[in-house]
Amino acid sequence: MSMKSGFRRISQVLLATCAMAAVSSALAEAGRASPQPGAMSDTDVADKVDTLLAKMTDEEKAGQLSQYFYFSQFPPLAQKVDKEIAAGRAGAVLFTTDPKLVNRAQKIAVEQTRLKIPLLFGFDVIHGFHTIFPAPLGMAASWDPAMVEQAQSVAAAEARAVGMHWTFAPMVDITLDPRWGRIFEGAGEDPYLGAAMAAAQVRGFQGRHIGAPGHIIAGPKHFAGYGAAMGGRDYDEAEISENQLHNLYLPPFKAAIDAGAGNIMSAYMALNGVPATADHWLLTDVLRRQWGFKGWVVSDSGAVNSLVTHGVASDGAEAALKAIKAGTNMEMIPPGQNANMVSLPAAIAAGKLSRTELDAMVRPILAAKFRMGLFENPYVDEAKAKTVFDDPKHALAARITAERSAVLLRNEGNLLPLDHAKLKSIAVIGPLADSARDLMGSWVFPMNSPSGKSVLAGLREKLGTKVAVAYAEGVQIPQRVNPSPFGTLDGTNKKREPIDETAGVAQAVAIARQSDVAVLVLGESQDMSGEMASRATFELPGRQRELLDAVVATGKPVVLLLTSVRPLTIFDSKAAAILDLWYPGSQGADAAVNLLFGDAVPGGKLPISWLRSASQAPMTYARLPSHAPADAFKRYQEGSNEPAWPFGFGLSYTTFRYSDLKVTTPKVAPGHSVTVTVNLENSGKRTGDEVAQLYLHQKVGGSSRPVRQLKGFQRVTLKPSEKRALRFTITPADLSYWSDITKEQVQDESAFDVWIGGDSLASLAGTFEVAK
Ligand code: BGC
Repeated sequence: MSMKSGFRRISQVLLATCAMAAVSSALAEAGRASPQPGAMSDTDVADKVDTLLAKMTDEEKAGQLSQYFYFSQFPPLAQKVDKEIAAGRAGAVLFTTDPKLVNRAQKIAVEQTRLKIPLLFGFDVIHGFHTIFPAPLGMAASWDPAMVEQAQSVAAAEARAVGMHWTFAPMVDITLDPRWGRIFEGAGEDPYLGAAMAAAQVRGFQGRHIGAPGHIIAGPKHFAGYGAAMGGRDYDEAEISENQLHNLYLPPFKAAIDAGAGNIMSAYMALNGVPATADHWLLTDVLRRQWGFKGWVVSDSGAVNSLVTHGVASDGAEAALKAIKAGTNMEMIPPGQNANMVSLPAAIAAGKLSRTELDAMVRPILAAKFRMGLFENPYVDEAKAKTVFDDPKHALAARITAERSAVLLRNEGNLLPLDHAKLKSIAVIGPLADSARDLMGSWVFPMNSPSGKSVLAGLREKLGTKVAVAYAEGVQIPQRVNPSPFGTLDGTNKKREPIDETAGVAQAVAIARQSDVAVLVLGESQDMSGEMASRATFELPGRQRELLDAVVATGKPVVLLLTSVRPLTIFDSKAAAILDLWYPGSQGADAAVNLLFGDAVPGGKLPISWLRSASQAPMTYARLPSHAPADAFKRYQEGSNEPAWPFGFGLSYTTFRYSDLKVTTPKVAPGHSVTVTVNLENSGKRTGDEVAQLYLHQKVGGSSRPVRQLKGFQRVTLKPSEKRALRFTITPADLSYWSDITKEQVQDESAFDVWIGGDSLASLAGTFEVAK
């Protein structure tokens, strides 16, 4: 590559970074400039809630505890809900996002009910609303919580503009099992990274306080343990030891609550035999008593009803009673089901529930409505959405987020970035190459008019007529045997005409032979992860692997762009470069093109261990030390059980060197912090980002502690030869854990190993001691 084009690219990267800074300050400015009514004081809210509660009948109170799916596009379903709203039997609805229909429903609540209590409108704003950001797992791969906070504040602004008040997000379930389709929505396998992402997303959605203009209430989910669904099979039970619950699965929830999340959603499954929606220990002892949660708990969709299915209630009335007594405030009611909470007045009359108990469950819901300002201003400005959607800062933020989320897994012979100036022809191949929808992933809905373009379109736009772009689909991704429940909403379940795949592979090989480079876009289609989207294999679906191998066999340089959230089995392919885009979102094509040509430099790192095959799941890098440590990666007779790429791994177009790890406080008393410093240098020729990661191991104590655990990270941008002294503070909280012996958080006296480096195999090490 010429010096000139090199400089141009670097300045474009810098421009992108500056652009992100501009987006941040513009968004922050927008927040400051808008009229800030400020947070209402707790006493003010409590007074208003008490005054209203005093006027309410038991039936009206129970009505506040029901949330209906409200598919206003299906009139018979909508009419049924309209009736419930008018009768004061609905506290909230979900899934209507057309501002006109939002206002129409709100008008029924505000004008036709006795006490004129407005509705809360909720929606799954998971990774964008109209502007689609990368899959949350991809965003976690950025290791950039500040950027993720921005992304979710953009999502919040768009959702609020159509009248939403509340999102069922962030999904903060840790999982060690990528067979589970909902790995898409979380931050991966690590509780430290997971907690950072959880808190960042809550701040992004909610802004400075509940009711901040342009923001919505965050509802972390699914409380708790859903990510441990047995065998990665969605909805199935989770059996989690107390040790794992406290040290692995709960920390991101705690972080989300500490960040002020106003709502939380209970999980579908039974945790250690007790369905989460009826788990008093979880919803009351831990969440409210230990953590001080003041918001309200919504059940997952139909999860109150399914207490009957689980076999812990004999009918809906008993299910409602069990849920409410455990600490579930609100029932989310799927289309076609009836509310169970309506039976609570009868339970009061029968002496099974006290009015004080009922009031306690209604209070936080009314409080949220007061804090959101709905009594003063229940309606949404129907004209506003368009201007918010069209804000160019949103698309810019989505593109930069996608660029910063991508993970470069392999780059033999520095094939990437491609040199635009030298390139004459490019073959673009694969069933995902010409699909805009698949780049966006799950939880994206046509009614919110998301728009994007395919990688092929992005490349054509970028390369113009100077470079010949040839395209071959090659093969198809087979349709699911058990279709996705979302496919009926967006029509993606429709049967596709099969193509002749043998001819398709031959055509792909032919265009690759005639081109300077082949770019294959392979992976999983958008409906292959998300809810009800588990898989029992990580092979590239269909005949994609055959296609990849055939193109590689031409001897042409091959770049594999992956879209998926699973660790697909591609490490043994001979593709020279592999760039994981996750599902990069509505600006994903532009991001991919920028990354391919070096206008952006990959700096993301894996938030999961990249397993060799699905049969290795579940797995974590943070395993406990055990017998025969020298054979720790020979636990299967067939070969290595090391992951293909370790947790935290990711390459750049430049290189980095770590040196001089120093523990500035080699011995501290329990309760004190430890400081570690390290020098990081960009030892390559381009500006790029590195995520410096700090891992700890407690050598001896009451419990066996993981061989390594992430306890700090910093993403930094360095110019060629630039050096930076990084400083990490390890707090007493980082040095403590929940002990199964004392049943509480403990800090042992122990020696610790500490490593800092670019992934979880970092070798630069130091030690320190915690002792009295
Ligand atoms: C999912 C939740 C989601 C809810 C509403 C459920 O099936 O498990 O995560 O928020 O539906 O769409």
